Order: sequence, then structure tokens, then C-alpha cells
Amino acid sequence: MAIHYTVDQNVAIISWNMTSAPMNVLNDESIPEFEAALKRAYEDSAIKGIIITSDKNEFVAGADLKMILRNNDKDPAGMLKVSSELNRIFRAMETSGKPIVAAINGTALGGGFEICLACHYRIAMDTPKSQIGLPEVTIGLLPGGGGTQRLPRILGMEAALPLLVEGKRLPPKEALQAGLVNDLAAGREELLKKAKAWIAANPSPLQPWDERDRKTGQIVGKDNFKVPGGAVQSPTGVRVFSGGTAMLMDKTRGNYPAPLAIMSCVYEGLQVNIDRALKIEGRYFVKVATSKVAKNLIQTMFLGMNEATKGAGRPKDVPPTEVKKLGILGAGMMGSGIAYVSALAGIQVVLKDVSVDAAEKGKDYSRTLLKKGVEHGKVDPFKVDGILNLLRATDQAEDLRGCDLIIEAVFENRELKAQVTKEAEPMLAENGVFASNTSTLPITGLAQASAKPDNFIGLHFFSPVDKMQLVEIIMGKQTADYALALSMDYVKKIRKTPIVVNDSRGFYTSRVFGTYTAEGMALLKDGVNPVLIENAGRDAGMPVGPLAVTDEVALDLVYKISGQAVKDGVLTEEDTSYQVAKMFVDLGRLGKKAKAGFYEYPEAGKKHLWPGLSDLFPLREQQPPIEEVKKRLLYRQAIETVRCFEEGVIRTRLDADLGSILGWGFPPYTGGTLSFVEFVGIDTFVSECDRLADTYGERFRPTEKLRQMVRAGVETGQAIGS
Ligand code: NAI
Repeated sequence: MAIHYTVDQNVAIISWNMTSAPMNVLNDESIPEFEAALKRAYEDSAIKGIIITSDKNEFVAGADLKMILRNNDKDPAGMLKVSSELNRIFRAMETSGKPIVAAINGTALGGGFEICLACHYRIAMDTPKSQIGLPEVTIGLLPGGGGTQRLPRILGMEAALPLLVEGKRLPPKEALQAGLVNDLAAGREELLKKAKAWIAANPSPLQPWDERDRKTGQIVGKDNFKVPGGAVQSPTGVRVFSGGTAMLMDKTRGNYPAPLAIMSCVYEGLQVNIDRALKIEGRYFVKVATSKVAKNLIQTMFLGMNEATKGAGRPKDVPPTEVKKLGILGAGMMGSGIAYVSALAGIQVVLKDVSVDAAEKGKDYSRTLLKKGVEHGKVDPFKVDGILNLLRATDQAEDLRGCDLIIEAVFENRELKAQVTKEAEPMLAENGVFASNTSTLPITGLAQASAKPDNFIGLHFFSPVDKMQLVEIIMGKQTADYALALSMDYVKKIRKTPIVVNDSRGFYTSRVFGTYTAEGMALLKDGVNPVLIENAGRDAGMPVGPLAVTDEVALDLVYKISGQAVKDGVLTEEDTSYQVAKMFVDLGRLGKKAKAGFYEYPEAGKKHLWPGLSDLFPLREQQPPIEEVKKRLLYRQAIETVRCFEEGVIRTRLDADLGSILGWGFPPYTGGTLSFVEFVGIDTFVSECDRLADTYGERFRPTEKLRQMVRAGVETGQAIGS
């Protein structure tokens, strides 16, 4: 059952209440029921108006993305049907002649909000947690139920386009200010009361873009509808579209088709009447909804993210755990960030450093962030003291007694880490877990300092902790399921997304990210123009070029890590990162922190590539096409991920994909480093890797397993890790 139909004093109340899904969504089950309920109300002459609402806490969360995925690579006709069916139903709502009010009792997103846009009036219940908007673009889609046409016809295109193109979600108060809804109500009772009052006062409303046909009396789309704020050809229109398209191209680098398709929908649709405009929208919808990019974004960034956040991969037979008291060793950059996000989640935190002063400095970090949060309206000022009271700054190990979890974030030094482990571990509560936030030292080795290596685990946070969503959980050789379960429960509590990997050098994220920076240096050594290298990185969709990001990491750190790998016999001194990093350390150009690296960082003005680069790495006469440079940068990361997968460092495809996108910004349109193989096609991937290996080195050589898959004709879609 999806829809609940009741009548109250000649008003039909059509209430969404899907029993087959946790949230109300538009799918094969609910759409026909919704339409049947509407028809019942249209056909009953006693019914004077219709209220659409929901019995659940949210209104309607959007289209069922699993339905979209089912049709993605199979059936453009099926996809067009989804959109045209919805449009037929929504258009009938506008033209039935009966007033329809959306009583938005909670979150209304995507298709859910498109229902509301097809109503004659929208009232939202003022619950700050509710979200209203059309966020389809964030998963590679566009609003295919009339959203791209009705929103600009209500708000004007200048106000509507940013909402559509950025996929913004607004709380009810802001939605009212922006004009997405017409009124607010304090609670359910007032919501229905206001809806009924509006119906009584507006017995036969018309949408602004509609008119009554003089002869037939039927409601039809107006041919000469005037868009508020100016038409497409007005000076405003010209400015909005020419400036907007250029900005979008710069932002998406052509990798994401949806935002541009939205611009086109609005541009073309606003020049014709609503019925023809909806057809235009339908065609663009099919184009983006059947794209690989939409599939990748839905799969990894929506469904996958939900799965990971809920704790996919948590050992099932361990009962739920709860970290109530957390110890953190080291109140530096990482420790103070971890303390902040934990206190924010209501966890009692003991923050220990070598002196109370140092620990207090770490606590100050929370004070600063909370102050900023209050200024930006993100933190309730009345909660600040409570959060700060949860944080105890200390230099006494004794204060750690009874912690359910202790995370060490002291300097990256094996001996020091062993020493603090020995000192703090005995303070743990019974069954407590000890974690290291090391970024490079293998967990199994660090666990040797522990009396209970089965309760020792890696919790690798990313900097800045309050902004970075990912936590890489590392299983040492002896780490038990209990430690993993507790860690995952903790990560969930602080609202971060975990991936789980097995112990190895650089774990997963640092190892593969390292191939991006290393390939940047290899390109430089090959005489490729550094400007081309950096542009290719960004054009490929990486947030920052490989040389700029190496400067941020710092070249002395790259030198230290690659030097250790040389010492351990994993790399030779011929290794490019080792050689280039050594060269720069010798020059004293350590990166951004030294205001000199691959870039120059002038006091006044913008950073720019260091002119001395061309003396160190003379430019090749013939420069490669940018596509080739992009390929080297992306394929290098993907092939390393395949190796991680085959070596068992990475355990699931989702962990690989999410880890790469959330950890170091691998481009989401590809679906992530492992989905990338399917994105380009496994056959192409293998043959291109062979070609790259023949041209640039064995680091690109495909694995035997990949070749076997190609020989066996494994269908793309099941290729890797599914
Ligand atoms: P940091 O240098 O900012 O902080 C280290 C803190 O540990 C200092 O406040 C120091 O006083 C304290 N400390 C030293 N000895 C101590 C002891 N015996 N007891 C208690 N505290 C002690 O270092 P950062 O950047 O916070 O890194 C900490 C750990 O996190 C390292 O293992 C690092 O590899 C790892 N990490 C760092 C990331 C980063 O981006 N900086 C990212 C992920 C992990």
C-alpha cells in the first residue's frame, strides 16, 4: 500500500504512506496508486479540492533510484515512459479544475517536490530538519517531472537556475524566502487547516502558465506566458545563460552532462508553452538518465554511500556497541579534530598531550570551530557549553581510565607510538579498543606494543577532520571482529563514512593517492609541460593538479615515505618520486609550507608554477595531447587499485570506490577507482594499460586476472569486485 485516501468535508486528502519502503518514493508501485487516488477525487463531483500530504515524517523523498538504475543502460524508451507518465499525471493535477494544495509535512525532494510544484499552492510544515529542493543534479540526473519548467516559471530563471544546477536543498524557512513554497505551518493540524482554507478561498485556480480555452473552457498552456524577471532573450536572460554556461564548463570540465542539460532545458523550454516544454525536458532527462555518469553517481554516491554509512561490512554477529568515553593521545592537528567531531556527537572525550597547555590548545580548536558554527547558524549557541564540557584536556594518563576507545594521534614515530600504547592501554575499559591514526606505519607492527593485539586497529582520519567524510579502518593481522564492529559503530556515531581495508604499506588511500602524485612527477621527468600536467589533472576531474597537491602534501614527506620504501627494499633509488622529491629537498623547495616547491607562493599575488622547473626538466619538443596525459593520471590510480583488490588490501568494490572519491577526490563521474575500469570498458582498460606499459613503464601493466576476465568475456557490470 502506498496511498491513503480520505475525505474531510468535501476535501480529498491523498496521503502518501508506503508500507513497502522506509521512505515514500515514486516508483512502479506508488505512481499508479497515486494517480488512481487523484482520479477518484477528480471524478467525485462532491469533492471541492484536494490536499496532498504524507502520513510519514517525510513528504516524498524523490524517485526510486533503483528504478532509474534498472532502466539505465537498457531501455531509453522505458526511461522516457517514467518521465512522460509523471508529467501526464502532474499536468492532469494542474488542469483538473479542482484546487490542489501540497501540505508538505516534511522533506520533499526531487520527484517529491515536483508533485508540490504541480499543485496550485504549497504550504510547508516548519520543521528545521526538513529539506526542500530538486537535488537530482547531484546524482547526475535532472528533474524529469516538470521541475526544470515549473521552478523557473515560478521564480524566474535567475533565481531558479542556481537551485537546479547546484541541487540545493533548503529548510522550510529558506524555502519560503526563496519562493519554493507559499506559506509555513507550525504543525500538522495548522497545515491541514491552512490547506483547507486556501481551497475554500480558491475554488478554481489556474497555474500562472495556464489559461482557459475560450471555446472549450478547458485549461491549456499559455503560449504568451511571461517568465517573471525577464524572458530568455532579455538582457537578463542573455547574461544568465552566457555567463552561466561558461561558469559551468569551467566547473564541470565537460565531465558531468546533467548541469548543462538543465541549462538547455530551461533555455529551450521557456520559449514555448508548458506542454511542449515538458516534452523538451523529457528528451534531456532520458539523455542524462541513461548516461554512464548518472549510473556511476547513483551507484556510488547515493546507494553506495547509504550502504557504507549504515555500516555495510560490519561483522553481523557482534552486538551493537557504544563508545561513551573516548581517549585521544596527542592534541595536535589530527587529535584536536577528532576530539571536536566526537564531542559534537555527544561523546565524552579525554584529550591528552604532554602538557595541560598543549592539550588545552587542542581544546581551543573546538572552541574556535564552535564559535564559527554559531556565527554561520550551524551550531545552536545554547549547546556550545555542553559540547565543550564533554572535552577534558589533560596530561595525566590516569584520566583515560574507563575509555571504551583510545585513539593515538601522536607524532608519526614507531617508538613513541609504542610508548604511548603501553602507557594508555591498561586504562581501557574491559573490552576497550585501542586505535592508531597513523598514516603510514603498518598496524600489525604497531600492535606489537599492545598487550591485546586483537583489540588493536587502525582508524585513519583525513585532514581537516571536521570536513573530511572518510575514515579508513585498517585491520591488523590479529585484529578481531569485535574491534572492527566497535570502530564502525563509533564512526557511524560521529557521522562519518567508513571503509575497511587490510593492513599493508600505505594501506589503500595513501598507496593509490601516491600514484597520482608520482605520475605527475613522472610526467615532469618525461619533459611534459607542467602547465599541461596540471590542466590535465583538473580536466580529468581531480580537484587539484598532481604537482599542486604534492606541494600541499610536502616534498620532504614524499621523500621520507619513498626513502623508507627504498630502505625496506620495496622501491629502488631509480624510483621517480624518490628522485624528484630528493632533488627538491636538496634545493630546499619543500612545498607550500616552505612557500617554494613545484610552485612559487609570492606574498602578494597568486601561486604560479616555478619557472626553474624547465631547467630541471627540459620540455620535450613534441608535447603529448592532453587526453594522453589525463589517461596516464587516471589509469595509473585505477590499475593500482586493481592490484590492491587482488592483493586483498581492499575487500569490496564499494570500499575502493568510496575511499577514492571521499579520500582524495578521485572524480565521482567515474564511479570511483574500481568502477573506472567498467566506465572505460574492461577490454579497453586492459589494452590501454598494455599500451601505456609499453610506452611509459611496467607500472601500468594489467594484472593476469584482468586478462583472464577479458578472455572469459566477463560482462562489464560484473567485471570487478561486484
Ligand atoms: P601534530 O604534530 O599536529 O600533533 C602531534 C601531537 O602529539 C602534538 O601535540 C604532540 O605534543 C603530541 N604528543 C607527542 N608525544 C606525546 C605523548 N607522549 N603523549 C601525548 N601526546 C603527545 O601531528 P598530526 O598531524 O596531528 O599527526 C598525528 C598522527 O596522525 C600521525 O601519526 C600522523 O601520521 C597521522 N595523520 C596525520 C594526517 C595529517 O594530515 N596531518 C592525516 C592522517 C593521519
